[in-house]
Amino acid sequence: MPSQVGSDLKASPEVSAYNRLPIEIVSGNGCEVLDANGKSYLDFYGGHAVSALGYAHPKLTAAIAKQAQELVFQSNAVDVPIRESASQLLVDVAPAGLEKVFLINSGAEAIENALRLAFLQTGRKRVTAVRGAFHGRTAAAAAITDYNEAWYSFPQAPFEVDWVIPESFEDLEKYITDKTAAFVFEPVQGVAGAVDLSPEFVQYAASLCIQRGATVIADEIQTGIGRTGTMFAVEQLGITPDIVTVAKGLGGGFPVAAVLCSNQIASNIKPGMLGTTFGGGPMACAAMQAVLEVVSEPGFLPKVADNAIYLAETCLKAGVKSITGRGHLMGLHLNQPAAPIRHALLEKGFLTGDAKNPNVVRLLPPLILNKQQIDQFGVALSEVLA
Ligand SMILES: Cc1ncc(COP(=O)(O)O)c(C=O)c1O
Repeated sequence: MPSQVGSDLKASPEVSAYNRLPIEIVSGNGCEVLDANGKSYLDFYGGHAVSALGYAHPKLTAAIAKQAQELVFQSNAVDVPIRESASQLLVDVAPAGLEKVFLINSGAEAIENALRLAFLQTGRKRVTAVRGAFHGRTAAAAAITDYNEAWYSFPQAPFEVDWVIPESFEDLEKYITDKTAAFVFEPVQGVAGAVDLSPEFVQYAASLCIQRGATVIADEIQTGIGRTGTMFAVEQLGITPDIVTVAKGLGGGFPVAAVLCSNQIASNIKPGMLGTTFGGGPMACAAMQAVLEVVSEPGFLPKVADNAIYLAETCLKAGVKSITGRGHLMGLHLNQPAAPIRHALLEKGFLTGDAKNPNVVRLLPPLILNKQQIDQFGVALSEVLA
């Protein structure tokens, strides 16, 4: 007998920062997680796109366990072999021209440091961001996040921001100027509901940045490390950014984030200008190396791309109005509010995500999702949409 969603939940000592789903997850294997009552769920949300390899992946688990036995931590005051090899691997799989890496712990921290690099490189003070963007909750990241009203409690933004509307070439012309330090964008706007930016729009922005001396920062915190079917989403957009941020799936659940940049941009950094206590710690690097090794195995990414097409077709057949996004970052657009549909899917044993667009169900499944699991989701989705 399946357990009732929402039963037996205790009062929490945590601050009420989140609207949580009414379940308690205790373990996971592959794409499946189990709640405290033993009910199983197929995870089509992947813990905000973090669980790229699903749960209890043997290579990731073994790498973390091995590293824990060898060396849990050493700071950036010393060299650590796993930091060196994991950083090299990240640079090897990154688009050409991104030759240097700075390791930190979270997406917002990656954005803060990426912006710092852009300010240093250009000596300018303004940033151009895209309406609908989500870049994080720390001061600088919040300034370029379009959804900051509810929690943006800082007294003032740390710099001026010019906003462009997605696909407005006119806005790009107007707001990427000789005062712009950086144009920042997500290749697919995740929190907005998997909103695609077209290659033409991004290419035009990049060409203006070259003409007007601004840097291009691609926020691949959600789209990076295979989520869209290529290692980085910018590979599909036909540009090479000056700076790329990546986090979420990079450690497969272990907190790790990175800023990638060119040798030239990195040459502005002298010892003492950037820093972190935990960033680049051995555990994070062991996790990152394991994830990168798995995702770059031959055939892994083509399968992600192929299964994502199958998932999109399945959802359309099940009655979804339209689909946006790339690869396994997908927005299912409904003719009705998404919240009751997501709740009904949860009752049937499927975890899904929300979006700022109230009619969108966001899917960010582990990259190891298979066709049989997609079929199961398709059946449940058609039942709840019927
Ligand atoms: C595109 C993007 N950038 C930045 C962030 C912030 O990352 P974090 O929550 O790790 O600070 C997120 C988080 O959802 C994101 O989706």
